Amino acid sequence: MRRYIPIEKKDQTQSSPQKVYLSASSERLKKYYYEKERYHCIDKNLLFPESELIFSLFIQRNLNYELLLEAFEDSPKKPSAETLNYDGDIFIKVTDIPLYQQYLETISSSSYQWMISDKQKIYSIRERSKIFIRDLLSAPENSQNIKKCGELIELIINSILCNKEIFYDLIKIKEHDYYTYVHSVNVGILSVGLGIAAGLSKTNIYNLGIGSLLHDIGKCKISSEILNKLGRLNPFEYRILKNHVIEGEKILKDCPYFPENSLSAVTQHHERLSGKGYPNNLTGAQITIFGKIVAITDSYDALTTKRPDKAGLTPFEALSILVKECEHYDSDLLKLFIKLIGGVI
Ligand SMILES: [Fe+2]
Ligand SMILES: [Fe+2]
Repeated sequence: MRRYIPIEKKDQTQSSPQKVYLSASSERLKKYYYEKERYHCIDKNLLFPESELIFSLFIQRNLNYELLLEAFEDSPKKPSAETLNYDGDIFIKVTDIPLYQQYLETISSSSYQWMISDKQKIYSIRERSKIFIRDLLSAPENSQNIKKCGELIELIINSILCNKEIFYDLIKIKEHDYYTYVHSVNVGILSVGLGIAAGLSKTNIYNLGIGSLLHDIGKCKISSEILNKLGRLNPFEYRILKNHVIEGEKILKDCPYFPENSLSAVTQHHERLSGKGYPNNLTGAQITIFGKIVAITDSYDALTTKRPDKAGLTPFEALSILVKECEHYDSDLLKLFIKLIGGVI
């Protein structure tokens, strides 16, 4: 079976990637998803002309990963201007993640303070969160990982509370393809921002932050064929996907490091005020404020994220859809979220 999907193809006459439609056989897509597991998307804001890279960089083109810069621990290389100005996502091999972590630690250390701005320090926290969520999704039962989750969300909350602009810097970064670990970090940041705007106490923002960072943890129990399927899921596949909420609850409910109060962010993020959500078709007051917040931030991030089979919407387009479907969302929180994203709070 062949599907037509939009992918990035560099137009020789333009500097930015242009969307084209190519036919992709299911074999080719299978290879792409297999390859996708072997690469990790990194933040190019943390690459500098002076940085000595000890890992190779790759780009994604036509569903393939191509080498952009070759570097090794014993043969470091500085990125060229062409690398630094590359318009699309940049990747490293998953096996090089420990070297990337080492790099993040080095650039955050005091000897490199001249090189890294406050903004870049928070980008580095976001990068650490992505790696951490990726590890956590591959070993969700390890409660030590969940403990570390609390430390990261506290760093994110404190950074946003110290400087509101950091929130906007963090939500501006958008990786192009969909990855559960990136989505989880985005939803964590958006939920913390909305929790602060809604005037929640610091303890509640912390509990909301952990719950929202882990809201999709149950997806690690769902097959990648279903998670990555292009186009619509059939009713059977959709039923399996919906199970990620129950799976998430099973993983977290007895975890000693996961606050009990955070659980509703996980169990209720697909409930809708209209009663049309899942798994329990809860309505209005049956849904906690955490459930109502993550319902908004989760939908917003899903709408604005590009996938191989659909373009990501602009923030304005995504907010317009949420407004159109407002019977599902808490109206006060939705208004607050629109103001927050609009940067007018
Ligand atoms: Fe979900
Ligand atoms: Fe989600």
